[in-house]
Amino acid sequence: MRAGQPGYSAAMRRDHTLMDGAIVMDGPVLAFGGPYSNLEATEAVLAEAARRRIPSGRVVCTGDVVAYCADARATSDLVRGSGIHAVMGNCEESLGHAAADCGCGFDADSACNALAVAWYAHADRSLDAGTRAWMRALPRRLDLLIGGRRLAVVHGSVRQINRFVFASTPESEKNAELDHLAHGGAACDGVIGGHCGLPFTQAIGGRLWHNPGAVGLPANDGTPRVWYSVLHPTADGVEVELCALGYAHERAAAKMREAGLPAGYAEALMSGLWPSCDVLPPAERAQRGRPLRPGRLRWAGALEPMAALS
Ligand SMILES: [Fe+2]
Repeated sequence: MRAGQPGYSAAMRRDHTLMDGAIVMDGPVLAFGGPYSNLEATEAVLAEAARRRIPSGRVVCTGDVVAYCADARATSDLVRGSGIHAVMGNCEESLGHAAADCGCGFDADSACNALAVAWYAHADRSLDAGTRAWMRALPRRLDLLIGGRRLAVVHGSVRQINRFVFASTPESEKNAELDHLAHGGAACDGVIGGHCGLPFTQAIGGRLWHNPGAVGLPANDGTPRVWYSVLHPTADGVEVELCALGYAHERAAAKMREAGLPAGYAEALMSGLWPSCDVLPPAERAQRGRPLRPGRLRWAGALEPMAALS
């Protein structure tokens, strides 16, 4: 069954059980970030959920449904109608409130900022009032219970929707964010985050920081693949499976060119290389063009590598 076809949400949706405000996940959870108006990639990741028989109630998106690519409205409609969980990204915050820019946190004189002017205007023209209202109503945080662990889904960091948190971001900064998780609520064992567009999984003082990557743009690794993850509950924690996804990237890129969007991002869908690395710390810049590998890690406080997948 193609996820984009009618029937995906109706056939796969489940009622949610809440415990202390967290959604109880009674099986594997598929997580992905950054649809970025890439309809083909979003259809592909939802089709993957259907293929794995993961119902929409166990699929979660870390936000930025709309950004660089051609199909802002259709991608919003697909996510909105699919029945999956999604948190608000900075793009939903900005477009929902008809703000002047994407709120990505780019420096004013950066190449990312110059490119954002064009795609943001394209997205802004595409959206109707109902879609903007849906965006404004998205939660900024969702707590999930997986394998007896409570994980908070956020877009950037715990305290800031557009904060870039990378694998190389110092542990002290991640710890400060993780410490903030319990403010005003139940204690939490980790974060599922997005925004930076690059997947990584780390244990920080026993707590998890997991970014499943993005489906709307490749991971700057020199391949057109995009990334998502499946979190498998275990007796004492979670197994994190990082997965690569192929999709109709040529078609998505062609639609961007037809729409007159900046060539750099259309080329990025083909080459797997970002048009600008302004936002990247040195460690992530050094990884540019190095193909990522799918893999599997077991987390039960500490992280234990399992066999890499090919
Ligand atoms: Fe973002």
